[in-house]
Amino acid sequence: MPHEKSATRRAGDLAGFAALTADLGLLYGGDYNPEQWDRRTWREDIRLMAGAGVNLVTVGVFSWARYEPRPGAREFAWLDEVLDLLGAAGIAVDLATPTASPPPWLGRLHPDTLPVDADGVRLVAGSRNQFSPASRVYREHALAITRDLVERYAGHPAVRMWHVGNELGQVCYGDESAAAFRRWLRARYGTVEALNEAWATTVWSQQYASFDEVLPPRRMPYHVNPSQSLDFRRYSSDQLRTLYREQRDVIRAVDPERPVTTNLMGFFALADYWSWARDLDVVADDAYPDPGDPRSPADAALTADLMRSLGGGRPWMLMEAAVGAVSWRDHNLPRSPERSRREALQAVAHGADGVCYFQWRASRAGAERFHSAMLPHAGADTRVHAGVVRVGGDLARLRDVVGQRVPARVVALFDWESWWAAEEQARPTGRLRTLDVLRAWYRVLWDAGVAVDLVHPDDLAITGSAGYDVVLVPQSYLLSPEAADALGRAASRGASVVVGCFTGVADRDAHVRTGRFPVLLADLLGVSGEEWAALPDAGVPLAGPLVGPDEPADAGPRAHVLGELLRTDGAEVLASYAVGHLAGAPAVTRRRVPRSDGVATAADAGCAWYVGTVLPEPLLRRVLADACERAGVSGVVPGLADLPDVEAVRRGDHLFVLNHSGAAAHVRIPGEHSDVLSGSVFTDLVDVPAGDVVVLTERNA
Ligand code: GLA
Repeated sequence: MPHEKSATRRAGDLAGFAALTADLGLLYGGDYNPEQWDRRTWREDIRLMAGAGVNLVTVGVFSWARYEPRPGAREFAWLDEVLDLLGAAGIAVDLATPTASPPPWLGRLHPDTLPVDADGVRLVAGSRNQFSPASRVYREHALAITRDLVERYAGHPAVRMWHVGNELGQVCYGDESAAAFRRWLRARYGTVEALNEAWATTVWSQQYASFDEVLPPRRMPYHVNPSQSLDFRRYSSDQLRTLYREQRDVIRAVDPERPVTTNLMGFFALADYWSWARDLDVVADDAYPDPGDPRSPADAALTADLMRSLGGGRPWMLMEAAVGAVSWRDHNLPRSPERSRREALQAVAHGADGVCYFQWRASRAGAERFHSAMLPHAGADTRVHAGVVRVGGDLARLRDVVGQRVPARVVALFDWESWWAAEEQARPTGRLRTLDVLRAWYRVLWDAGVAVDLVHPDDLAITGSAGYDVVLVPQSYLLSPEAADALGRAASRGASVVVGCFTGVADRDAHVRTGRFPVLLADLLGVSGEEWAALPDAGVPLAGPLVGPDEPADAGPRAHVLGELLRTDGAEVLASYAVGHLAGAPAVTRRRVPRSDGVATAADAGCAWYVGTVLPEPLLRRVLADACERAGVSGVVPGLADLPDVEAVRRGDHLFVLNHSGAAAHVRIPGEHSDVLSGSVFTDLVDVPAGDVVVLTERNA
């Protein structure tokens, strides 16, 4: 489908979720899989949940085979008992449709329900996700069990929320999927001629005589047509969204009140969550930052900001996280209780109104037997469980945060279609990764305590970027004319606009725009290019005012990965290539943009930067600091960038300071504040021990 342009793309009616959190406070709990345990254990679970401050559990994610052990059977009595026990203890239930793992009989009776990979291999039962999203038979069975479950439990007082499937992400290349892909293409293009045009099938003799000849991009002898591949990604995302929607509709028909959601996976490559977000009553995310990656606190913050932005700024929830180690990486570093607590509070700082884990009780067997849980194999008398109890207490103390917003004056453009198209096969460099660039730019602002929203480029066009003073375009390979206009309008009302390399390269069909690039932005930027040039492994030294006069050309900062042969037309050159293929060409430029409202002073002008390469961090920091300064944007805490790995986020009237570093931080924050978590009072200087978090409110405010 063409991207649907509407402000309502964002998560719609949050009344149900807002009502839930107004009642329960910040949500706290996890996936609960009672089908793995006996009745006596259920009672112990619920007693310990209550002791840990758990107020919500997600039940039934993988219970289909227990409900329907034989085709058409319904065995719900055990769930009646579980829900009654939870309800009696005052623990709310997020009841899942069990559709992520059909019983083995479904694949045996109907092999077409099983997914087929790009090599034509049909996958089998024995794990999970063994369904083809296009399979009519799978969908009929999924809707039938969903309907019976919802009709039985919609009136149950413990059920307060609905959870569709689990991490919808299955892609299928089989025959039924091929037919569905063709239907999707017909709806998009109408005629095969239009499809041929969009896919540029004159290249390599790919012209189709009819839709019937078209296939998903299965294994091919050589490079895939990038437009075909892009459309298959769009189709696959839409197909998964259809699964969500049809189960959601079954729920809605019975229960119009309670919020319905599914668990997203951050920057997940197989689904365009901008197009999904308006279907979710609350955006929910599963996040498993790698404790072994020193950059994960900043990356996790970015993902959290994406989740907040998908919901148009409204509260979201962390649906799954790990209390300790996961078990699905090759080498699973543990997460200390302090780190786990920090990650929970970080999500809340960035707008989450709930923190839940996978899972409540550690499985004794099965694929996830070594995955951490809120209640480990060793039981409640453990460091991990003590940490869980502590977080429960913290979240209860933060009740006033519920519903509060995170204000941001900086926005970064990001969209899945651009990401997909930019990383198709056969391009100037395989080393330029959209997310790497986005993360690098974000990290600079995170370090400085500057809040960032994310936006789909076409939504920027709709809103006219109202409210944002700095607009970042780290890398938007596909850029619509409307989005390009919106960037121009932002700069001409005084905003700083910063555009990164390999942006605006192609149109929505992934055809390269001809002319000096970035074609749609060259006037705004006052610079344009004619060649992309992958840079040597060692990088290329830069010179110019951004670099400073004292840097020796051979030991100074270098451009990496990709450069562009640029020529200025009205922009000032801040850095240029010192040697090599691009010697003398501009690498970073800045142009003052006159204000459209006639305000003429230089100080009030907007500014447009072009960063035509991947800059080393210190230079990127200078560019982004300049952009923020000119727009009058500063961090929530002055001087934060001098305190490595200390994060500060304002949410409503709470200021969260999270010390991800291994050393105590002394943070200058003028005024008298108290820490909601510890009760400590600080005047002008706030001490945050290594690994700790404070949540400040102004005293006598
Ligand atoms: C995902 C899934 C869970 C579980 C966890 C393990 O979040 O939704 O079912 O497998 O991963 O980390």
